Amino acid sequence: MRIGNIELSSRVALAPMAGVTDVAFRQICSELGAALTCTELISSRALCYRDKKTFSLLTQFPGEHPGAVQIFGSDPTCMAEAAQIALEATGCDIIDHVKTQFPYCAAMAVISFVMYIVFGFVL
Ligand SMILES: Cc1cc2nc3c(=O)[nH]c(=O)nc-3n(C[C@H](O)[C@H](O)[C@H](O)COP(=O)(O)O)c2cc1C
Repeated sequence: MRIGNIELSSRVALAPMAGVTDVAFRQICSELGAALTCTELISSRALCYRDKKTFSLLTQFPGEHPGAVQIFGSDPTCMAEAAQIALEATGCDIIDHVKTQFPYCAAMAVISFVMYIVFGFVL
C-alpha cells in the first residue's frame, strides 16, 4: 500500500488517537506489526507558540518510519507553520492535518484549558 510516495510494508496502520497514541504505545504497535504510526492530535497553535509540553507529543521512538504527525487547527497560516515545525522536529514522513471549524475549536480550547489546569499540557 502507498500513501503518496510512502510505501507501507503492510495494510496495518495505527489510527491517530488523542490521549492514546503516545510514543510508547506507538513503539509497541510498531513492534507488533503496524506499518505506519501516527502521533496524538497536536494543536498547531500550541506548536507555533512552542509550548514545551506540546512539543513533547512530537517525541519519536528510534527509527519511527514511516511515521505521521497529526496536527489540528483553524488558521491555515498557523497550520502551515506548525507542519514545518513538526517536520523539522521529527523528520516524519507524513503530516496529517485536521482543519477545525468554530464550534469544534471552541470545544478543543475548553478541553485544552482543562487539560492544562489538571495535567499541565495543552492538547
Ligand atoms: C480514543 C480515540 C481517540 C481518537 N482520536 C482521534 C484523533 O485524535 N484524530 C483522529 O483523526 N481520529 C481519532 N480517532 C478516530 C480513530 O483514528 C479511527 O479513525 C476510528 O477509531 C475508526 O477506526 P476503527 O473503526 O478501527 O475504530 C480516535 C478514536 C478513538 C477510539
